[in-house]
Amino acid sequence: MVPSCLLPTMQGSCFNESGLGLEILCDSKTNSTDYLNMLSEHISSLQGSFSYPKKLALSMVTIPRSTEHNSFSQLILLPLLTATCEASIMPVCKRVAVIGAGPCGLGTVKNFKDEGLEPVCFERTGHLGGLWRYHDEDMDGVASVMKTTIINTSKELGACSECPPPAEYPNYMHHTLMYQYIKFLAEKSDSVRHVKFHHETKSIEKADDYEKTGRWKVTCKNTQTGELVSDIFDCVCVCIGHHVYPNEPVFPRQEEFEGKVMHTHSLKKVDGFEDLRVVVVGVGNSGMDAAVELSAVAKKVYLSSRRGAWVLPRVGPRGHPFDAVFVRRYLHLMQHLLPYNLVCYVSEKQINERFNHDLYNLKPKHRIWSQHPTVSDTLPIKLLSGTVVTRGGIKHFTKKGVVFEGEQEETEVDVVVLATGYKIKFPFLADDILQVVDNKVRLYKFIYPPDLPHPTLAILGLVQPSGPGFPVGEMQCRWTARIMSGKMDLPSKEEMNADIDKKLEFIRKRFVDSPRHTLQVDFISYQDELGEQIGAKPNLLKLAFTDPKLFWAIFTGPSLPYQYRLQGPHPWPGARDAILTYKERVVTPLQRPGQKYGRRNRGLLSLSTGFLIKLLFILPILWLFYSLFFTNV
Ligand SMILES: Cc1cc2nc3c(=O)[nH]c(=O)nc-3n(C[C@H](O)[C@H](O)[C@H](O)COP(=O)(O)OP(=O)(O)OC[C@H]3O[C@@H](n4cnc5c(N)ncnc54)[C@H](O)[C@@H]3O)c2cc1C
Ligand SMILES: NC(=O)c1ccc[n+]([C@@H]2O[C@H](COP(=O)([O-])OP(=O)(O)OC[C@H]3O[C@@H](n4cnc5c(N)ncnc54)[C@H](OP(=O)(O)O)[C@@H]3O)[C@@H](O)[C@H]2O)c1
Repeated sequence: MVPSCLLPTMQGSCFNESGLGLEILCDSKTNSTDYLNMLSEHISSLQGSFSYPKKLALSMVTIPRSTEHNSFSQLILLPLLTATCEASIMPVCKRVAVIGAGPCGLGTVKNFKDEGLEPVCFERTGHLGGLWRYHDEDMDGVASVMKTTIINTSKELGACSECPPPAEYPNYMHHTLMYQYIKFLAEKSDSVRHVKFHHETKSIEKADDYEKTGRWKVTCKNTQTGELVSDIFDCVCVCIGHHVYPNEPVFPRQEEFEGKVMHTHSLKKVDGFEDLRVVVVGVGNSGMDAAVELSAVAKKVYLSSRRGAWVLPRVGPRGHPFDAVFVRRYLHLMQHLLPYNLVCYVSEKQINERFNHDLYNLKPKHRIWSQHPTVSDTLPIKLLSGTVVTRGGIKHFTKKGVVFEGEQEETEVDVVVLATGYKIKFPFLADDILQVVDNKVRLYKFIYPPDLPHPTLAILGLVQPSGPGFPVGEMQCRWTARIMSGKMDLPSKEEMNADIDKKLEFIRKRFVDSPRHTLQVDFISYQDELGEQIGAKPNLLKLAFTDPKLFWAIFTGPSLPYQYRLQGPHPWPGARDAILTYKERVVTPLQRPGQKYGRRNRGLLSLSTGFLIKLLFILPILWLFYSLFFTNV
């Protein structure tokens, strides 16, 4: 059989005004007489409509449009192939297996197509969107959000770099809108046809010729028929997310407990919790959502935490999305210039003014930026109203409940909900390919196993940024697509290992030692790092002179994903406009029907503290430029 990567449909660049073009790539090193024979056989057997090799390059033929497809293949293509490529043909179009059709897998399909690769995406469920596709039932361990989940990162910061969410969508979207947005992006980029639903990947092994070619054998189980199917791919991208396998710790004497113990992984809605006494263990974002939602119907919710947490709001100063106010380049630069303890002191003071963590027994020993952000606007009122109360960790279970750390008395409860996070696992990959120890992985840029001889296996979406995950995942896909398409190389094994050590050292020094802090990256630095390597990082110095308005928006405004489409591979012509008009899309959903967004003319008296800080910060830079370039003339 002819490899299907050589048989894309006849469209796009194959046609031009004068006819049909076919590029043929000859590679004198590859002996592919067999391949040529197979191709000849295949082409002669084709009837009516069929596909041609899209990009077999070097010599190019053009035939008139009127020529019948069949006669083209038989009269022109075959003799041409035989004549010009007697030695060999090498397919340019690489086939890539993408595992998982969540936001990251779909982003991979899209960005890999942009680079001329041919993705085949295996998704174990019958749906797109990963955990953003809500389902009521607890389906065979497939994760989904709760019925009430809203995103905790705002829509503009978490957007696709080429397509802002519709202006009328709220800033913190309900999961149903998030799902619609993901689906819309997949349809727009024609990615859906690349997805093979009901295909659960069971193993990814080196192909027999791996040492020479770097190819992989991917085996999937058809979840409807039970059939196992294997295929060979040039490259593999694993995009299964890291919220698949629940972490379910077992506490002392848990077996005595007569109530129910469950994980947030299977907590979909609050039905059935009416008037129950519930313990929620863990104060990450799942713990927050579970405690807040359950407390609406439960008799009492005990929020149990072994070390407390800093809780950030979604609603920032003057009602703006919190991340859009604080995730900005100039603040990011200041954070790197100023001592870490000072930055934390200022941030903790601001956060405590709204909600004193000490008063509510939530104040941890660690600093505010030493944990993954826990976000909740509702927790303070739930604590004030007593529907949620904070407690220490669970010391041990009893028949009727639990005893919390620091207490002697038993607290009677009906249900314990473990909001204890997830375990990172890749059951379809052997340990000699990728090892996970205590949720820790060694991956170059959190993507590539450094010890493999070929850059043909990537793990995508396995990061936890200090901002939204979606643009970070997208940048990973773009970066990996450049490598897998051969347009960029990986550095040496030594360099990769040194970079991994540096990143792990950063995590070790900065974050609390916990299995939830093994994949932390800084939202801006990490995107800049990958963006710079593919040429997509905005050139701020150049912009400062050529487009000061845009420079100002990028430097002092929210760090929007569109900035990485101003230059580099596959730029988006709408990127500049999207950056300059982001505020309209933030304000639009808050307008009444018929009301139009209009910029208010802010007089001098209304200068905000933020503006003054920016000014104080920017003046020394301008002074520096001035003294460097204009003083000695
Ligand atoms: C409750 C919750 C809320 C979140 N909210 C936010 C938020 O507000 N903002 C944010 O930035 N991030 C958030 N996250 C992080 C979340 O990981 C990302 O939003 C995003 O879903 C990651 O996309 P993904 O494609 O990597 O993984 P997923 O969305 O998990 O998709 C993985 C896909 O792989 C499939 N799959 C798994 N195993 C296999 C296999 N063996 N074979 C084939 N297919 C397989 C799954 O069925 C699934 O479709 C949240 C996470 C959770 C758990
Ligand atoms: N609305 C939303 O957008 C939303 C909702 C839910 C989840 N999410 C995202 O989903 C991801 C997972 O969040 P998550 O909250 O499920 O997991 P998580 O961030 O890993 O938090 C796990 C929590 O459980 C605690 N824990 C773990 N093991 C424990 C043990 N053995 N005993 C006691 N406590 C233990 C951790 O405490 P330590 O800190 O002490 O380890 C932590 O408080 C995150 O990226 C999160 O942002 C987002």
